[in-house]
This record gives sequence, C-alpha cells and structure tokens, in this order.
Amino acid sequence: MRVAVIGLGYVGLVTAGGLAEWGHDVLGIEVDPGRLETLRAGRLPIHEPGLDGLIARHIAGNRIHFASDAHLVSSAQVVIIAVGTHDGNGGWQTDTIRRCLGDIVPMLADDVVLVIRSTLPPEFVPTLAGFIDGVRAAADRSPIPVVINPEFTREGNAIQDFLFPERVVIGVVRDDVGAGVRSMRNLYRAVDAPILTLPAADAVLAKLGSNLFLATKISFANELAALCDAFDADVSSVVDAMGRDKRIGPAFLRSGVGFGGSCLPHQVTMTIRSAEQRAIDVPLLRAVDQINHDQRSSFVDRLERGLGGSLKGRRIALLGLTFKPGTDDLRDAPALTIALSLVTRGATVFAYDPMPSARTAARRILPAITVTDDVWSALSNADAIGLVTEWPEFIDLDWSEVRRVVRGDTLVDGRNVLDPATIDAAGFNYTGFGRQVGTTRAPSRTVAQKLQSVAVGSIASSNGFG
Ligand code: UDX
Repeated sequence: MRVAVIGLGYVGLVTAGGLAEWGHDVLGIEVDPGRLETLRAGRLPIHEPGLDGLIARHIAGNRIHFASDAHLVSSAQVVIIAVGTHDGNGGWQTDTIRRCLGDIVPMLADDVVLVIRSTLPPEFVPTLAGFIDGVRAAADRSPIPVVINPEFTREGNAIQDFLFPERVVIGVVRDDVGAGVRSMRNLYRAVDAPILTLPAADAVLAKLGSNLFLATKISFANELAALCDAFDADVSSVVDAMGRDKRIGPAFLRSGVGFGGSCLPHQVTMTIRSAEQRAIDVPLLRAVDQINHDQRSSFVDRLERGLGGSLKGRRIALLGLTFKPGTDDLRDAPALTIALSLVTRGATVFAYDPMPSARTAARRILPAITVTDDVWSALSNADAIGLVTEWPEFIDLDWSEVRRVVRGDTLVDGRNVLDPATIDAAGFNYTGFGRQVGTTRAPSRTVAQKLQSVAVGSIASSNGFG
C-alpha cells in the first residue's frame, strides 16, 4: 500500500521502517529541515538499535522516501499522523496535531484512511471527527474515514515490538462504510496477532491504560522495596517468588530510581490532569506519580547518608544518564533530576553515559555537572558512586579496580543490578533498593533498631521537632 507518515520522531520513524519491511511504499513527511537533511544523508536523528540499517536498506530499495512537501500525501492510501502531543511539562498539547491536521486533511484523497498514531488526550477524542469533517468541508472535500492506531513499542526494542506485536488496536473515530478498518487490516496483514477494533475512546484508554498499569507496577515494586528495607528482606527474591504466579507475572517489577522516558511519567501526569478536568479523583495514579518522584530523592538521600549526612564538597560519580539502556533519550531521565539535586545539595557531579549523543545533550541541559568521555574519568577520586542506568558496561566493570581509583566506599545501585556480594567483596558499602548485602558484610541495622528509630522519629514529630 502507499503510506505517508507525518512526523518522523521515534514513533514515526519506527512506523515508517516497519511498514517498509512489510513491503509497503512509505513516504515520510518531516517539516524540520535539519531532521530531514539528516535522514536524507542516511543518518538517523535518534538512536534505536537496528533502525538505521532497516531504513537505509529500504531507502536503497526505493521503499522509503523522505520529503517536506505535504502535497505529496495526496496520492497516499493510508496517512499516519505521528506528531507529539505532550507539552514537555507533564501536560497535553494538541496545537501541533490540530495544525498538522489543518494542513494535511484538505489534500487527502477521498479513498484515503487517516490514522492517528500520536497518543491522544481522552478529552480530545469526541471533538476529532467534527474537527476533521469541518476541515474537509471548508476545503469542499467529502468526509474520510478516521481511525486511531496507538503504538505499544518500547524504545530500544521498537522494531521487534512493531513487527511482532501482541495486539494491534484500531479505534474507530469515523468509518461510515467500514473502508477504514478494511484498509487497516490490509496494512497489518503480515501480523500474526489479534487486531482489535474498538470505539475511539476505548482505544485511547487502552493505550493509556497499558502504560498507566506498567507505571503502577513499577511504583508498587518500589513501595515493596521500601518494605523489604524495613524488614530486612530482599526484593529480588520476593518479586521472583511473586512473579511466578501467572496472575502477577515478573515484568515491570524492578525497583530502583523509578520510571523515566517520554511515555510513562508524562502519561501518568497527563491522565491525572485529564481526570481533574472531569472532576474525577484518581488517587492511585497520584500515588504512582508521587512514589516515582520520591524514588529519585531517595537515591540522593542514600548517597548523602552513605557520606555521613552531607554532600557538601563531595565528589559523586554518576553512572548513566539516559532513562534506560539501549537509547540516547534523556527525556524525563531520573539521572537529570538526581544530578540537579546532588548539585543543589552541594556535591560536585562527574557523570558518564556510554551513548555519545546523550553525553552531548547532557552537557547542554546540565552545565552545572561535568560529563566525562570515559567511565574511569568519572570514577577517579569519587567520594561515592551512584549507578542510575543499567548499561551492561557498568555491570561488567572490574569493581576491585574501581575501588582502587575512588576515594570513598559508598555505592548506591539505583537499578538493583550489581551483585551485592561482589561489590561488598570489592570493598564497597553497597546500598540498593530493598536489597540486603547478606552475611559477608557487617549486619545492616536490625529490624528492632529500625523500628526503634521510626518510633523516635514519630515522638520527635509529635513534639513538634520533626
Ligand atoms: C513505554 C512502554 O513500555 C511502551 O509500550 C510504550 O509504547 C511507550 O512507553 P519506553 O518508554 O520505551 O516504553 O520504556 P519502558 O521499557 O517501558 O521503561 C520505562 C521506564 O521504566 C524506564 O525508565 C525503565 O528503566 C523503568 N522501569 C521499567 C523500571 O523502573 N522498572 C521496571 O521493572 C521496568
């Protein structure tokens, strides 16, 4: 089929590459001249494993073309909108998509299907059919079928997730004679997974609901880790035992500094705002958000405690900047909030990330920290180490050698990925989230001691000293 993809960010590029792989002819439309130039030169403006090779192969095979001229969409059978809908500040913005639809919709052929792949605010959905019909009518064109087709692809694994989805969701906005859904089934004919056709509002909430549930699982795991710390239990064993129950499952129960990225954090806060507008209380989502924020400050607290209660003048090696491994994405990355908080509390931060483009971006975003070009320069003479992103090269470090180059023995593992016994044996004082070092180390505070300090804390609060 002839497909046009409007907006070539993470979602648009993965969609374009995946559709070309299935044999469709893809035209990518991008208005940003810098991005377009990069793409035409055969480079990608983002890092996604395998995507550069996939796109290069289909450019060479004439399956993918890139252009800025929106008029070219008039010959497409399917037009997919993949422009951003969040405002970068925890809220929705629909100006970009409205502008894009206003420009594109008048030019579309009468037998096209218009597909919205951008994540939409639920409150925008009821206005969508009327808005698009209005634009068509103003241009003296007949109405077209419109569907929503949310994406469920993870950065770092996006091509696999696109080509082998567990389900495809099609939300019907307007499809009077069923031609839109028929085209979508044709577009996805290579897929061996259920294709679910739903009303548009259900599709939008299925998309949001999936990410909200994943975020809830992570915040749950983080609360569980706090319980494990309080009762000297190990969260990894606890989650392993829980996850073997098929009703629970092991995925998305890793505790640590919490979730970041362009989807989970924003979709939690944006949904809270959407609910507020309808006067719906969403206490669970508010708690998920709060716990996630607290994990970041708890990480900084752990470093501070490890250094005897003050970060002033101390040198911290921060390992990892991206919101997860396998990407160069710094959007809402926990490392950024953590680095800023460390600096605010008086520390000097030397950070390293294996992804060169992430290092360049971090230097721009966080001029108050030093971003080094190799891990050893970040570690050298550090008073404490904080691991924020679980890149394999950090896990594989020779930790005895690391101990020789650092000044202090505090190590906080914000992703629970290092082996506490190995780190302990290398001479570090290991702190994870809900993990106990075991018998080789001086015993951590006993449950009785912890309960006693909680009791003292609450007496202090009740006396007005807290
Ligand atoms: C997410 C969804 O998974 C995907 O389906 C959707 O289409 C886009 O949003 P992504 O943002 O790429 O994908 O990252 P994901 O793998 O979901 O991880 C999000 C964050 O949660 C990362 O910061 C990760 O480190 C964190 N995480 C994940 C945990 O803290 N614990 C876990 O158990 C899993």
